[in-house]
Amino acid sequence: MAVFLLLLTLFGLAGTQHQALMEYLERRLLAIEDRISIWHEQTSRYATELRDFKQQMVALMENLDKEKEALRADLDGINTRVERVEREMDYLDTQNGAQPCVDVDDKLVEQDVTLVKEKNRDKYDKLTECREMISSVKAMKILKRVGGPKGIWTKDIVSRSDKIYIFNGTSEDSLYEFNSARDFATSPGISRAKEIKLPSTWDGTGHAVYKGHVYYVKKDKEFQVVKYNLKNVSVVDTAVFPAEDQIPVYGLNPETYIDLAVDEEGLWAIYATRENERNICLAKMDPNTLDMEQMWDTPCPRENAEVAFVICGTVYVVYNTKLPSRSRVQCVFDVSDMVTNDDAPLVYFPKRYGSHSSMKYNPGDQLIYAWDDGYQILYKLVMKKKLEV
Ligand SMILES: *[C@@H]1O[C@H](CO)[C@@H](O)[C@H](O)[C@H]1NC(C)=O
Ligand SMILES: *[C@@H]1O[C@H](CO)[C@@H](O)[C@H](O)[C@H]1NC(C)=O
Repeated sequence: MAVFLLLLTLFGLAGTQHQALMEYLERRLLAIEDRISIWHEQTSRYATELRDFKQQMVALMENLDKEKEALRADLDGINTRVERVEREMDYLDTQNGAQPCVDVDDKLVEQDVTLVKEKNRDKYDKLTECREMISSVKAMKILKRVGGPKGIWTKDIVSRSDKIYIFNGTSEDSLYEFNSARDFATSPGISRAKEIKLPSTWDGTGHAVYKGHVYYVKKDKEFQVVKYNLKNVSVVDTAVFPAEDQIPVYGLNPETYIDLAVDEEGLWAIYATRENERNICLAKMDPNTLDMEQMWDTPCPRENAEVAFVICGTVYVVYNTKLPSRSRVQCVFDVSDMVTNDDAPLVYFPKRYGSHSSMKYNPGDQLIYAWDDGYQILYKLVMKKKLEV
């Protein structure tokens, strides 16, 4: 009996202890569950907040992207306007001629006129010894703004006259003659010019004036080169250009199929055909018979080409981008193999303008007569000897 009582007490004690333990555990569990549910709540709140935040970020990023686009467009717009202003100021400068730097430039033009005569003599005696290549563009002068966005202005190349000729546009049947660059620069518009009506239309911006003759390109079923005597105002010769399936020679100037260029060596034609449609071709022309004396496939691509010119038997191709940027010589080809693309310097033209529709090199004054978006510009070149490193 005593044993039974003892056992009962023991069990009773164990029972209470057990209960207390159970209650303790219960409380702990509840507390933990509470905390877990709080964590759950918090986590889901965090998750929601994170999601919201993410959404906000995405929206912000999208907005930023849009704003970036808008900003870029604005910047482009501002850039264009700044350049326009710069150009206008340059133009006004040349009109006023008051500033010292412009004076220097003015002298440059005056000098050319006088220098040409002396230079011509020793220059053309050593015609075939011509060994010069461009080193850089030294100066630029905006002489005038006249005519449409595309055209040509040039001096009668290799002749004693200082006459300036203007081909306005890309297809007309007349050109304008001024007695000198100064006359042209000071003429209100083209009012002081003599208009020369040609017997047919010229096409593109690849014509040349050479030794008293206009050599112009005419597009019929095929391309013709017409030689027109300016003295007795009559056609001397007409020849079908001896190349087939012609395509525009410069990617950025689709109106021009043949670009006639004059250098120290004579008359050249820069053109392109479907047969070799990626690259520009060069031909030496006989100015008397209009025959092609020799032709070359150059390694210079047509794509993004803007204009080209020839100096001492080396063709320099000028490239730009569809949205006009700085024009630069990026490919050269020398018929005498003395200049390769590697030794030719990358020549940038000063500042940034619209886009050139023509660049006519004059071997007499070593200036480039460029037509840039309706502005007539002179580029003064620095030359060096070929094969000089
Ligand atoms: C020059 O050509 C443009 C078209 O390209 C024409 O609008 C303009 O009237 C021409 N200007 C002169 C002076 O002939
Ligand atoms: C014009 O002059 C050139 C040479 O200067 C001559 O060959 C041509 O026959 C002349 N034309 C006319 C119509 O007088």
